[in-house]
Amino acid sequence: MKLNGKKALITGGNSGIGLATAKLFVDEGAEVIITGRSQETLDEAVKLLGPKAHAFRADVTDSAARKEAIRQAAEKVGKLDIVFANAGIPGNTPAGSTSEELFRQIIDINLTAVFFTVEDALPYLNDGGSVILNGSVIGTLGQPGYAAYAATKAGVRALARSLAADLSPRGIRVNVVAPGATKTPIWSRSGSRDAEAVSGLEQKLSQLIPLGRMGEAIEIAKAVLFLASDDSSYVQGVELFVDGGLTGTPFGGAALRG
Ligand SMILES: NC(=O)c1ccc[n+]([C@@H]2O[C@H](COP(=O)([O-])OP(=O)(O)OC[C@H]3O[C@@H](n4cnc5c(N)ncnc54)[C@H](OP(=O)(O)O)[C@@H]3O)[C@@H](O)[C@H]2O)c1
Repeated sequence: MKLNGKKALITGGNSGIGLATAKLFVDEGAEVIITGRSQETLDEAVKLLGPKAHAFRADVTDSAARKEAIRQAAEKVGKLDIVFANAGIPGNTPAGSTSEELFRQIIDINLTAVFFTVEDALPYLNDGGSVILNGSVIGTLGQPGYAAYAATKAGVRALARSLAADLSPRGIRVNVVAPGATKTPIWSRSGSRDAEAVSGLEQKLSQLIPLGRMGEAIEIAKAVLFLASDDSSYVQGVELFVDGGLTGTPFGGAALRG
C-alpha cells in the first residue's frame, strides 16, 4: 500500500474528485479527514469510506471555521502528511454580463481559500509532506465565459510554484493536478444543467478530447495518489495534466482530426 499510516486532509472530500481521492487514499492505507459544506454528503461519505475517515464541516472561505476544522483534524489523527486543496466551484462570468459579487466569490473559494488552507495546515504538516492543489485545464485554455474560473486555476499553478519554493527547505512538495473534463456533480451544480444537457455537453466535449471521452474521478484520484506518495519523491512544483490529451494536443480530437 502506498500511503500506509499517512494522514491526509482533503477539502471538498464529500463529492466528485475529492471523494474518489479519499476512497483511494483509504484503500492505500491512509487515514483521511474530509471537509465540505454539506453535512448530509459529509455523513454519506464517511459511511462509504469507513472508520479511517473523519469529516468536519467547514466552508473554506470562512477563516474561523477552516482553521478550527484543521485544528480538530490534527487533534483527531495527529500531524498531517498530505493536504489536497481540492474544494472549488465553477461559475459563468462572461465578459459584459458578470457581477462583481460572483467574480469575487469564485476567486475567494478557488484561489484565496486554497492558499489559506495550506497556510492553516502548515503548523500541523510534517516535514517531507505533500501538498496537492486542484487546478484545471481551464487555467491554460481560453474558454469563453470562464474568466474568473480560469484566473483562479492559473493562479493555483502560480501559487504552487511559489509555495514549492517556500516549503522545499522543509522537504514539503507542492504540485498541481490539472484535470480536464471529468464526470462529477460539478456539471449540474445549482441546477445549472439537467441530465440531458450534461449528456449533450459530454458528447460535444468528447469530440474535442484526443482520447475521445471525459475522464472519471478515479483517474484524477490516481494522479493525486502519485503526487501524494513517495512515487513522486523528486517531483516538485509541477502541473500534471490529466485531461485525455486536451492541452497537449488540442487539435487531436475527433472533431478536428479531419
Ligand atoms: N469535474 C471537472 O471536470 C473538473 C475539471 C477541472 C478541475 N476540477 C476541479 O476539481 C475540484 C473538485 O471538483 P469536482 O469536479 O469534484 O466537483 P464537485 O463534485 O462539485 O465537488 C466540489 C467539492 O468542493 C466543495 N466545495 C465547494 N465550495 C466549497 C466551499 N466554499 N467550502 C468548502 N467546500 C466547498 C464541495 O463541497 P459541498 O458540496 O459540501 O459544498 C464539493 O465537495 C474543483 O476545484 C474543480 O475546479 C474539476
